[in-house]
Amino acid sequence: MCGIVGYIGRNEAWSVILEGLKRLEYRGYDSAGLAVLNNGTIDVRKAVGKLKVLESSVKDNPPAGCIGVGHTRWATHGRPSDENAHPHTDCSGRITVVHNGIIENYLQLKSRLEARGHKFTSETDTEVAAHLIEEYYDGDLASAVRRAAKELEGSFALVVMAQDEPGCLVGARRHSPLVVGLGEEESFLASDVAAFLKHTRRVVFVDDDLVVSVGKNNVRLFDLQGNEFVASATTVDWDAAMAERGGYDHFMLKEIHEQPRALRDTMRGRLSSELDRIDLPGLNLSDDEIRNINRIVMIACGTAYHASIAGKYAIEELCRIPVEVDVASELRYRDPVIDDRTLAIVISQSGETIDTIVGLREAKRKGAKAVAITNVVGSLAARESDGVLYTYAGPEIAVASTKAYTTQLMLLYLIALYIAQVRGTIDESRAATLRAALWELPSQAEIILNDYSEVVKAAERYYCFNGFLYMARGINLASALEGALKMKEIAYIHAEGYAAGEMKHGPIAMIDPTFVTIAIAVQSKTYDKILNNIKEVKARSGEVIAVANTHDETIVNYADRVFRVPQTEELLSPVLVAIPLQLMAYHVACNRSPNIDQPRNLAKTVTVE
Ligand code: M6R
Repeated sequence: MCGIVGYIGRNEAWSVILEGLKRLEYRGYDSAGLAVLNNGTIDVRKAVGKLKVLESSVKDNPPAGCIGVGHTRWATHGRPSDENAHPHTDCSGRITVVHNGIIENYLQLKSRLEARGHKFTSETDTEVAAHLIEEYYDGDLASAVRRAAKELEGSFALVVMAQDEPGCLVGARRHSPLVVGLGEEESFLASDVAAFLKHTRRVVFVDDDLVVSVGKNNVRLFDLQGNEFVASATTVDWDAAMAERGGYDHFMLKEIHEQPRALRDTMRGRLSSELDRIDLPGLNLSDDEIRNINRIVMIACGTAYHASIAGKYAIEELCRIPVEVDVASELRYRDPVIDDRTLAIVISQSGETIDTIVGLREAKRKGAKAVAITNVVGSLAARESDGVLYTYAGPEIAVASTKAYTTQLMLLYLIALYIAQVRGTIDESRAATLRAALWELPSQAEIILNDYSEVVKAAERYYCFNGFLYMARGINLASALEGALKMKEIAYIHAEGYAAGEMKHGPIAMIDPTFVTIAIAVQSKTYDKILNNIKEVKARSGEVIAVANTHDETIVNYADRVFRVPQTEELLSPVLVAIPLQLMAYHVACNRSPNIDQPRNLAKTVTVE
């Protein structure tokens, strides 16, 4: 969590840094700060609260200078306060540090440094980095950062600026993202390319345990022993407009509306336009390797975990391979059965979620081949996996994941169909039906987005209800869990997703007239059973909203309200069902909270445990 930005170039650093921090505010937003170096003096500004608080105070009296660092914080060590906000400085105020991650051995380092006379002014783990670098500083910042980085345990992305070296910024990373942007006579260091997309799309991804020194016109990479590496730049295909709200009130709403485009882009080049073939070179698995797989383990957190639940249903049905899904934070601490015939599928929008990354490493250590499904080119998950399939969703800025989820589903279907093709577990006519249905999904998503007035009306009626229960059967269990998560995280209403068959085992006790049940009732082999579940809720005076297919006349006799989605294959229906559920959470939240894109207590990417 936390977003960091460094800038060196021709422009006023404060303005470039604030603009970059706005793009990173999704990573943390309880306090912010920046520091600018000019004529041998470092000017540090900090403010508690969202970035706009810092922005308005800085704008009144901006610090001059063309080199600086900035930070937007999600507190881990020390409450949000001016003292704990970054940047942090050494004793003399000559070295300034911004940090994302957790320095796990900071207490030991702190007592050692205090014994040597260093004075600490904050409760953070970060401040030890500033003092440790001060210890090693002898006029060569890159070398001091390198020596300090060797002693830090845990995770960090650091950007460091020294008063005596106005021509460079130095960064270092381990397990937290850090990217260099190379512009015209200007360079950037940031947690995410979104911070500098407006200025450049040429980037250098910094690997773990590397130190990077950037000037206006140069970039140098070193390992922790001081050996220099050639920095190879790539060009990312996101553009700045993709990271703007584009007329929508919130990024979340914009991202919901981007789903038809995102789904098409994710299919493009993988499902042939003649609909006769799926090609997934990114899987990086030979046919023999695919035939050799005897188990699939999915590793993910949050929304990505819900996508993996749908993936399990699809892969088991089509490929006849047992699939295990687990939240990464559990998988990493148990002893999962994984060997060299296991395929690990790692799903992560950011590709940087720490539990997911550790799960990936554990799977690889046990001999599995790993394939990442991620949205971020060059992310840790992408780089550490044997194969990578990108969701071409474009930058997802809202904390609540929407387009990343539906594009993850799309890739899971493509993987399932591809593996089934290679293993011969699907007959061609069924495969052709599914490929054709996949192709239709973006247009069907557009139909939902063209008119969702029923959802808006329902949100107005139910936004002050006490709780929501989402029930479903089969593959739409994933939809129920995901719908409930969306409601919790942005509307702060208690919500639960349940397998409808479990209702009588407990949840039905909660039903009363102030409780809303959202039943996923699209056409499926268990449609009649869901109707029975709805009847049971109605018999206890609960309110029921059904998500059902466009031409389903029966459902109106059961549910109080109906959200319509076009009919598709049951296996693919979670893509379409997700959309009204996302919109429902969004519109309920609009009636209750001003912080849709940055819900309280959350950050977009969970890079600490
Ligand atoms: O970047 P990741 O996909 O690994 O993130 C996983 C979760 O943190 C994420 O999906 C989270 O649950 C979202 N805020 C849900 O909307």
